Amino acid sequence: MAAGTESLAAPDKLQALGEHAAACPNCRLADTRTQVVFGSGAPTAQLMFVGEAPGFHEDQQGVPFVGAAGKLLERLLGEIGLARADVYIANVLKCRPPGNRDPQLDEIEACQPWLVQQIELIRPRVIATLGNFSTKLLTGNPAGITRVHGVAQDVVVGSTRVVLFPIYHPAAALYTPAMLKVLEEDFRRIPALLGGAEGSVAPAVPAVAIMPAPPAATTMPAPPAATAQLGLF
Ligand code: URA
Repeated sequence: MAAGTESLAAPDKLQALGEHAAACPNCRLADTRTQVVFGSGAPTAQLMFVGEAPGFHEDQQGVPFVGAAGKLLERLLGEIGLARADVYIANVLKCRPPGNRDPQLDEIEACQPWLVQQIELIRPRVIATLGNFSTKLLTGNPAGITRVHGVAQDVVVGSTRVVLFPIYHPAAALYTPAMLKVLEEDFRRIPALLGGAEGSVAPAVPAVAIMPAPPAATTMPAPPAATAQLGLF
């Protein structure tokens, strides 16, 4: 938590956290980004999406999912009666990797405290992870998205228990009709998960804890060795 924000309400803490993150020096992407893309949407959202990393347009505008993948995400949201403003959207990495290359493990580790704190402040009921990177990070399981999409599970992130729902990344579905169909089908299950429908969440899967949010610091502390066991790759 940013220093001096202890007495604030959670939405104000989130705002302060975003301002703190805007100057993040914690990995090499600080040298190449235009700006930090912290996240956007309702600070008390019941539904949160976690993508991979900002692309060109996000880096320019400072807002996640503003390109073609974002348009698809907005269409899918509309089909379940929601708008962007009803949800919170963030990424595993807050800064664009040069040339939109894949996130690297040390970048994910350096950025993870921001995501954990976002989740702890928003306390969403459901987190839909978009694609492999966010799914592997937040489940702590190396199983790929093709295997685990559409399977909801309880996880604990920091001190927050959420229903995690892995789905395909909209960018991957844009040009692959079969994947789009699966993404649409999975998406239609989100309202039931938000409503806590009985039987929607795989009961046998144990909760997975990833590192708790760190204390306030300008430079985030190195993540514990346990992070290396997340099996991202
Ligand atoms: N893809 C992502 O994963 N995140 C964005 O913000 C945009 C595209």
